[in-house]
Amino acid sequence: MEIAQSSQSISEVPTHIAIIMDGNGRWATRRSMSRLKGHEQGAKAVREAVKGCRELGVPYLTLFAFSSENWNRPEEEVNHLMGLFKFFIKRELKELKNNGVRVNFIGNLKRLPQDIQDLANVALEETRDNRGLVLTIALSYGAQAEIISAVQSLAEKVKAGELQPEEITEHLFSKSLDTGDIPDPDLIIRTSGEKRLSNFLLWQSAYAELVFQDVLWPDFTKRHLEDAIDDYFGRNRRFGAISG
Ligand code: FPP
Repeated sequence: MEIAQSSQSISEVPTHIAIIMDGNGRWATRRSMSRLKGHEQGAKAVREAVKGCRELGVPYLTLFAFSSENWNRPEEEVNHLMGLFKFFIKRELKELKNNGVRVNFIGNLKRLPQDIQDLANVALEETRDNRGLVLTIALSYGAQAEIISAVQSLAEKVKAGELQPEEITEHLFSKSLDTGDIPDPDLIIRTSGEKRLSNFLLWQSAYAELVFQDVLWPDFTKRHLEDAIDDYFGRNRRFGAISG
């Protein structure tokens, strides 16, 4: 990707981009449409983001599709979103598979309807050997619950005498999270102008660059992805050290 860079700026396309897809409801309300329409349009923008990352050579993309808090939305909206996830996986699987995308999920999938859990497993299986973009979909995901679950699994191992407390390092802890086999995000994008992480990848975002964009998610295109990457290129990442 040809983008001008200063000597201290980042020179590589980010390895891992994570996106908080926000603003579907507002997009619909502004058009006097039901919020459900906003989510449908949002699903189209998901295709844009996946295609954009593939074209730009980004190896990992993670999308925050449904948070643990989203279960508190009206039943009709939750059901509609579940239908959209099902439709998306069913309709896109073949194309994702043929384009080398490996599909991955994080979150408390056990809370999802059984048919979506089954479909998610099919998507995992069918794309397991792909070596292109790793697309992680966060479903029923909350970072605090993810951290507690990792703590519990490590505590169980200590209790069983399989692990010493002092053997618990940042590395081991990272490996115990849902994201254990993918790198931490370099760039987190949030759309819709909100400026918070909302319980998304809290441990993994320790050194991530954060880019907040005013665009509402259904209007997100490859250009917004490129703008965010441009922004990222302009940043000077020091990971706590001083610049050389
Ligand atoms: C936030 O907008 C968006 C969501 C809670 C759902 C995200 C879902 C999609 C983009 C649909 C399809 C996804 C996949 C992976 C196929 P909001 O409803 O909170 O918007 P608002 O803040 O304007 O109300």
